[in-house]
Amino acid sequence: HGHAADGARGLRFPPVAPNRNDKVTVPSGYTQDVVIRWGDPILRGAPAFDPERQSARAQAGQFGYNNDFLSLLPLRGERGRQVLVANHEYTDEVLMFRGYDPANPTREQVEIAWAAHGLSVVVVEEERGSGRLTPVRRHHLNRRLTATSPFKVTGPAAGSPLLRTSADPTGTRVLGTLNNCAGGTTPWGTTLHGEENFNQYFANATSATDQRYGLGSGASERKWERFDRRFDAAKEPNESHRFGWVVELDPFDPDWTPRKRTALGRFKHEAAQPRLTDDGRPVVYMGDDERFDYFYKFVSSRRMRRGDSRAAREHNRTLLDEGTLYVAKLTGDSPEDIDGSGRLPADGEFDGSGVWIPLATGEVSHVPGMTADEVYVFTRVAADKVGATKMDRPEDVEPSPRTGRVYVALTNNKDRGAAGKPGADEANPRNANKHGQILELAEHWDDPASDGFAWRLFLVAGDPKDPSTYFAGFPKEKVSPISCPDNVAFDDHGNLWISTDGNQLGSHDGLFGVATHGERRGELKQFLTVPTGAETCGPVIQDRRVLVAVQHPGEVDGASVEKPASTWPDGPGRLVRPSVVAVWRKDGRDIGV
Ligand code: FEO
Ligand code: CA
Ligand code: CA
Ligand code: CA
Repeated sequence: HGHAADGARGLRFPPVAPNRNDKVTVPSGYTQDVVIRWGDPILRGAPAFDPERQSARAQAGQFGYNNDFLSLLPLRGERGRQVLVANHEYTDEVLMFRGYDPANPTREQVEIAWAAHGLSVVVVEEERGSGRLTPVRRHHLNRRLTATSPFKVTGPAAGSPLLRTSADPTGTRVLGTLNNCAGGTTPWGTTLHGEENFNQYFANATSATDQRYGLGSGASERKWERFDRRFDAAKEPNESHRFGWVVELDPFDPDWTPRKRTALGRFKHEAAQPRLTDDGRPVVYMGDDERFDYFYKFVSSRRMRRGDSRAAREHNRTLLDEGTLYVAKLTGDSPEDIDGSGRLPADGEFDGSGVWIPLATGEVSHVPGMTADEVYVFTRVAADKVGATKMDRPEDVEPSPRTGRVYVALTNNKDRGAAGKPGADEANPRNANKHGQILELAEHWDDPASDGFAWRLFLVAGDPKDPSTYFAGFPKEKVSPISCPDNVAFDDHGNLWISTDGNQLGSHDGLFGVATHGERRGELKQFLTVPTGAETCGPVIQDRRVLVAVQHPGEVDGASVEKPASTWPDGPGRLVRPSVVAVWRKDGRDIGV
């Protein structure tokens, strides 16, 4: 296996072949184990998971459902321990409850689902000499935030009439966070959580702006409106405006109410990842995951304070309330060569230039005909007006800590080039795009606050035998097939790790590593695959371990508790359970060296 030792530093492992195993498959020489499962108790008083005796009260103290974004933070003063923060994007009721009737959910089932959404904070303990992690139950930092926990709304649109409801006439206090997909970790030690497909929880919405966000005019899928009137837009038209934000959480301060940051705009926030300017101001990159939606950034006007003092911490927790929100417009340099097939342009690259169009700064709108409040609450409408570039579903984003270049996963877009829809352009070069691409963005002067940038496609995904694929120019016979990039992360070597959701090549989803600089730039290798029906989320790449969230295992059309499509992780006769998995090397050495 000459391949095994090959690869960029950090990527020297034998690649996992595409497969449909109902398990987590890792490279030879590596091993893995579940860190924590849906339902595992983390708070004081929470019972062990019992699939036949679930309750909302139990779930509120247990790890939530459908883990997505993960952050793993150092815990000072407690050797061998770290703090794991996880998003719980949504619930799969048919896989959670025996005999679930989608037309008639019970109050208990609905309240369990509310408690299974949101965020978890759980301290984990490292096993010496391996990458194994085990949860520390009842640690004082352990925490659950759910669909009913209090959140504060801050920033320029806080208190806006567009955010007021009968339960909250101040427009500043929201119960719950929903559909937390990916996220980010800030240099000041907090975590960011995107509220993505919040539209699915609301019924009876009829306004044009609500429709622009995909809210429906009939009953919602989960029928929550029967149990809490705030989910009925006909009764509480502003409640849905209180979702679709970036949430900031301080995992080290359980007394601090998490914030919904209106300065970062409202859309289907996939993720939010900051990078600092040379003078210490955070710039947050953000994708809106919808076909033909946009890529954004927020530039703070405040500088981060270094150090661990109470005053520094309090100051840094205001950085995301004041600044300018921008949306990206991209222009290709080979427009005459783009025919929707994915054929490389004559200049050899899908590339071009871009500008950041300002939408609002504090209380000032830059969009004609819209107030600043309207720009923040109906950000999609504002971006439509200024002619931003319609992208192939912007998912997670990650700036390289080595080069400052920003990588944006564009997962797919089956409607690109369809009748009445935008056709291919140089940044989104394939019509009926099944496999997606990854865009690499370089800010002018490497200044994240710049108003212009250069860009090129780093990767055009698919089977490397497919002529429309591109791996940064690396020889295609040496790379793994990849489809539908979703979450991205960097390791300390400067390699980009990519997890996938919705593989269209007949294999299960997985995790891949790829070099972004040097001679091996573009050499992509598959590191793991996940069980039937699952997508790969997280990921977190540390020296000694790789952490992934296995989201929605067993989610296959027609599957249910009675007819499971997957028996992961506990085998036949047990409920399929979304879980976090750690992978490490059997010989205890670092990953991929
Ligand atoms: Fe929840 Fe865009 O993935
Ligand atoms: Ca070009
Ligand atoms: Ca995602
Ligand atoms: Ca996804």
